[in-house]
Formats: sequence, structure tokens, C-alpha cells
Amino acid sequence: MKDIQQLTTDRTSIESYLKGQGWLNLDEKVTAVEIPGAGNMNLTLRVKTSNRSFIIKQSRGYVEKYPQVAAPAERALREAEFYELVSTQEHLKQQMPTLNGVDVDNHVLNLEDLGDGVDYSFLYQRGNILNTGELEKIMQFAASLHTGINTTTTTAPLPNREMRKLNHEHIFIYPYLTENGLDLDDILPGLRKVGMIYKKDASLQKAVKMLGERYLADGKTLLHGDYFPGSWLKTEKGIKIIDPEFCFFGDAEFEIGITLAHLKMAAQPKALTQKALDIYTSLAPLDIELCKRFMAAEILRRILGLAQLPLSLDLEERKSLLVQAREILVQPNNKLL
Ligand SMILES: Nc1ncnc2c1ncn2[C@@H]1O[C@H](COP(=O)(O)OP(=O)(O)OP(=O)(O)O)[C@@H](O)[C@H]1O
Ligand SMILES: [Mg+2]
Repeated sequence: MKDIQQLTTDRTSIESYLKGQGWLNLDEKVTAVEIPGAGNMNLTLRVKTSNRSFIIKQSRGYVEKYPQVAAPAERALREAEFYELVSTQEHLKQQMPTLNGVDVDNHVLNLEDLGDGVDYSFLYQRGNILNTGELEKIMQFAASLHTGINTTTTTAPLPNREMRKLNHEHIFIYPYLTENGLDLDDILPGLRKVGMIYKKDASLQKAVKMLGERYLADGKTLLHGDYFPGSWLKTEKGIKIIDPEFCFFGDAEFEIGITLAHLKMAAQPKALTQKALDIYTSLAPLDIELCKRFMAAEILRRILGLAQLPLSLDLEERKSLLVQAREILVQPNNKLL
């Protein structure tokens, strides 16, 4: 097997790598290599030359920020497959960066630079509210993706099973392990004691396990797979969608459940969460009960699991979300939104 070329931020070695790929013109020089924004999983770089810039993203067999944590090395290729499927639909394509090239041997993507935008993680800070136009764009993109690319419109397989397995562990297993290497009191004092209630809750865990099996089963609809504020980029040309490395054909309810969970954890007004659901259901079918169950599982795992968010919620607010989430999973007829 050929050795993988491990990219770094070093300007000269990036330049020779890009020349080798044919991604630079013969006389083109790299003038700067920058980190375009906060990412954990991959090496994501902005490469500048005298007349243009583009984004280089390499996936490795581990998480870039935590090299001791293994991750599927070829995930950038799954991300590329998503971009290729989306490129058949002009209105979806316009809301994502163009994929300029793929280096299959070294698991590298060459993507259009959408400019110096920030992702929507600022929503987790208190007082930041999405405007209606932004919400519409976010929900319409999801509905167009789900109705536009599914097993009735394409035969392309994209199981992305390794990434799904990784996500499955993080959503459906780790949060409920008594010892998972995370002391919740380091996140927020008092959270460890709260977490113990859920780690000892057999009926909750049974419901979560069943939902996890549903997540692992193949579905009909192409999902972005990680549709939360970190994948929405605020650019000069409006909201763009990035980072579909967790994509797969599954249940639309998973995608929308994740989105609603994040709107709730970002303390968006209740009416806005309802509006998100209304916009989506006016455009695409959705089993709302199933969607709420996925929403609940995501709330539980983001508050109690390893992949923490920069939440502004205090202990009482987190407890209240956890109680509601548990009720949805254990008593599925419960109304929450
Ligand atoms: N095409 C692009 N144009 C401009 N900026 C980009 C582009 N792609 C990524 N970025 C910037 O780089 C950051 C990291 O990118 P991305 O989310 O794709 O990487 P990642 O390693 O998969 O991150 P994560 O660990 O959050 O999954 C983004 O938040 C964004 O700020
Ligand atoms: Mg990512």
C-alpha cells in the first residue's frame, strides 16, 4: 500500500503537494496557509496564492484535535461522495462549496473557499436568535435534500457505516456508561450527580438502544448527518452548508431531530422551534414522534456525553431539558416542542 502523505501547515510542503496533484498552475506560488475556522475532526486549511484561495481538508485515522482517538481514515471520501450526489441538483449545490477535486490516495478534498465566515455556534450564546430568513434557508435545504436525493432518485450507495458506528457510540452508548472518561462536574459543577440518574435509568436505556438500532439501519433518504449550527456557515452570500462527513441514507427524522435539539439547546424561542418544524413539514413528510425521539436522544448526549457544546444553559436549564427528553423517550405520547 502506498504511504499516505500527511499534510501540515508548512507552506513549501503544501505547495509541492498541490503541484503534485495538479491543483496549482505551474508558476503559481502558495502565499499563505491558514486555519479557516475551529474544527476538531480533520486537518482543514485555507490555502492562498497570489490570485485565489481554496480549502484543503484531509481526514486521517484519528481525530485531528485528539490524536489518541481513532476515527475512520477515509471519511473525507464519504464527504466527497455526498458533494458528488448533491452536484446533480443545482439549488442544493449552490448552498454548499463546490468540490474542486479529490485525492483518493491521501483522503484529501479540495473545496471552494466560501470566505472568512463563522459557523452558527454563536447561537449557543445567550441572546443570539436566528432570524426567520435564516431559519427558512436551513429548513428548506434539509427538505430539498431529503426530497431530492433518496433511493427513488438514485441508486448510489452511501452507507458510511464506519462513521455511523462512531456516531452511534457517541449518541447512544457513551453518555450512559458510568465510566466514560468524562467528569461531568468539569463541564458544570453538579452535572455529574444529575448524569448518574440517567446512567442508572434502565427504561430510558432500553428506549435509547432501540432508537440507536434505527439509526444504524439503512433508510431511503440522503442525510447530511450532522445538521447542527457547526455545519451552517454565515457567509457574505448567506448561509452555506458544510461538513457532510457523517452523511448516509437514513431517516429524515434523525436529521430534523438533531436540528430541533440544537435549536432547543441554543435556547431559541419556542415559537422558532415550532416554525422550524412547520417549514419542514410544509415541504417534506415527517414522522413527528420519531423525530422527537431523535431530538431527545441528541439533547441527552450533548448534555451528558463526550461531544460537548459551548452551551450557556445553567444547571437548572440543563436538568429541565433532560427531564423533557427522558419523558419523550420513555413515554412517547408526551408533547414537547
Ligand atoms: N469551504 C469552506 N469555506 C470557508 N471556510 C470553510 C470551508 N470549509 C470549512 N471552513 C471553515 O473551517 C472550519 C472547519 O471545517 P469543517 O467543519 O469542515 O472541519 P471538521 O474538521 O470536519 O470540523 P468538525 O470537527 O467540527 O467536524 C469551519 O467551521 C469553517 O469555519
Ligand atoms: Mg466535521
